[in-house]
Amino acid sequence: MKKYHKLTENAVKPTGFWGRLMIRSMNKGHHALTDWGLSHIEISNGFRALDVGCGGGKTVAKLCDRVGSGKVFGIDYSPLCVKKSLTYNRKNVLCEKADIRQASVSALPFEDDSFDVVTAVETYYFWPDKLTDLKEILRTLKHGGTLLLVFEMLQSEEDPDRWKAVEERLHIRAVSEQEIRDMLQHAGYHSIQTDTKEGTSWLCATAKKE
Ligand SMILES: C[S@@+](CC[C@H](N)C(=O)[O-])C[C@H]1O[C@@H](n2cnc3c(N)ncnc32)[C@H](O)[C@@H]1O
Repeated sequence: MKKYHKLTENAVKPTGFWGRLMIRSMNKGHHALTDWGLSHIEISNGFRALDVGCGGGKTVAKLCDRVGSGKVFGIDYSPLCVKKSLTYNRKNVLCEKADIRQASVSALPFEDDSFDVVTAVETYYFWPDKLTDLKEILRTLKHGGTLLLVFEMLQSEEDPDRWKAVEERLHIRAVSEQEIRDMLQHAGYHSIQTDTKEGTSWLCATAKKE
């Protein structure tokens, strides 16, 4: 049980031995969830994309496969995640198709109107000021650009305690579909859409900058 706790705690900001294990487990464990999330957005040749909270870098790799002649950036505030993402994407980093940087979602090191697409998979729960952080992402999106948020921890009315142990240990909260829609609207996004996957606790939201 202690090992499980050490691993889980490293979802917040992976570091050290348990962080390395967590990164490996996230790359594997979020594979299907990420593919499902990505199936909700259009990614065209030449797109500039950003993955926020890129973890082990698998979403950056998936985006690189889809943007053709475009470019993919990843940011994470964990130095270990940046290192692992760089290694995972080394071929695309070498040819400058991928660029991974250490940064917080609260202060993105990018100009206004930089990206066609921004993705954020299983990271929203940890952000320090969710409304301000969503606005910071909006700043970096191009007009007409899309944000994709992907979650595995959807609150369940039938089983309200489903995420209790993780919530208490990590001081986070599972999300509801309505709460995410409201947050995106208050942050200034348009064309907000959400989807859930039957038989899972998955949620994804897409929203646009007007
Ligand atoms: C559960 S992991 C998900 C990683 C990856 N997106 C995936 O799906 O495998 C959460 C990630 O968000 C990052 N993260 C958490 N808070 C962050 C913040 N404020 N700014 C940037 N990254 C953050 C963590 O370091 C971690 O890599």
